[in-house]
Amino acid sequence: MDHFAYRNGRLACEGVDVESIAHAVGTPTYVYSAATLTLHVKRLAEAFAPIEPLMCFAVKCCPNVHVLRPLVDMGLGMDVLAAGCDPSKIVFAGVGKTEAEIRAALAAHIATPAHLTPDARAARALSGADASTADSPRPIACFNVESEGELEAIARIARQMGVRCRAALRVNPGVKAGGHAYITTADTHSKFGVSPEHALELFKRFAHDAHVQVDGLHMHIGSSILTPEPYAEAVRRLLALADQASAAGAPIRWLDIGGGFGADYHTGDAPGAEAFARVIVPLIKPRLDTARARGEELRIVIEPGRTIAANAGLLLTRVQYIKHAAGKKYIVTDAGMQTLLRPSLYQAFHFMWPTRVGPQHEPPTRTERPTVDGVLEAADVVGPVCESGDFLAKDRALPPVAPGDLIAIFAAGAYGMSMASRYNSHCLPAEVLVRGESMTTIRRRETIDDQLAHELTV
Ligand SMILES: Cc1ncc(COP(=O)(O)O)c(C=O)c1O
Repeated sequence: MDHFAYRNGRLACEGVDVESIAHAVGTPTYVYSAATLTLHVKRLAEAFAPIEPLMCFAVKCCPNVHVLRPLVDMGLGMDVLAAGCDPSKIVFAGVGKTEAEIRAALAAHIATPAHLTPDARAARALSGADASTADSPRPIACFNVESEGELEAIARIARQMGVRCRAALRVNPGVKAGGHAYITTADTHSKFGVSPEHALELFKRFAHDAHVQVDGLHMHIGSSILTPEPYAEAVRRLLALADQASAAGAPIRWLDIGGGFGADYHTGDAPGAEAFARVIVPLIKPRLDTARARGEELRIVIEPGRTIAANAGLLLTRVQYIKHAAGKKYIVTDAGMQTLLRPSLYQAFHFMWPTRVGPQHEPPTRTERPTVDGVLEAADVVGPVCESGDFLAKDRALPPVAPGDLIAIFAAGAYGMSMASRYNSHCLPAEVLVRGESMTTIRRRETIDDQLAHELTV
């Protein structure tokens, strides 16, 4: 599942003792394992190989460019302009795209990433990836369109710029899926996408537009989805809609089924990529085969985020105080809702454990919720923010800890740092990427001076 493991009572990320990371950069700090990122990308790629999808990483879940670059080098696309990614592998998602963002996406440039080795540069050149230069910008692969107004804006701006682009209409298949109401997105009453009926009208309306080729369908039914069934239902509905569009003279050439595959946070209940693929691939593969046999274009896209990044990262935090009040124990840490919002926002569970423990306390597996057993003690793990909703865990059984000890909060690689804030004037945490025996600080800790630098002297 990941490359974080206890050895002789001390937690290591790949070949690096995590305590040495805290000594080098302080806390709170997000620590990512490059090998774990690679592992999850490979699993997805293998599972979905029969439908050869373009895999566009959901950048919002872990946007550090040093995390994105290795993914780009592995051939992944992205869901926003990022990290020197070839525009032909970028789909642009988002409900409120601004005019400036649409313009930038219509004039995307292929920047050869400076970090590439000469061999990798040569390979890119041979593959034609660098054929477009700053003088010949071309639009991204596809806009995932959320409303009629947005489609009109894209068509207008593309006309002004004299370019042609592709658009996929995001539809709400009306399927309920997702780990929490806030991350359920395909319900009929959600702000996302358009209804299937509206999509059919838009396909007709834009059938002959010279600047926007509306021949894609997109869905993203939610996040943290733990069973493949909602995909089966939603994909069936999407394919039925594609048939209706074809019958109405608008054949679908681009089918994006979104992301949302759950990650394993605690109980081993998140199925692997294979389980999702087992349900999705047989529904889509016949379409693909038929399209190929007829010489027609049909591209499949997936947009995974959490399932790649969640288990590739942990949050390191230091215990500040232990407090007892009204029969309850509180462990006060330097991380809180400003560092990792998921527990407060979604009541999400994150397994956490001290980074250094006696042999009897090494967690045998992180897939279990330990119970209080006379040695472990129940405590609320809380942050420094002035909100009662500021907690990382409630009534959690943990080995005894003292001020100064480090706690690792696991499965924090997705929607962790990307949701961190400066609330209560806290500085944004540092980020570290581990590769084998080496660690690199990929984002330095913010300082109060950094924060004040944005405030103008008037
Ligand atoms: C449109 C879209 N695609 C993909 C994703 C990625 O979802 P996940 O990280 O759950 O795979 C999201 C996130 O919610 C999204 O909004």
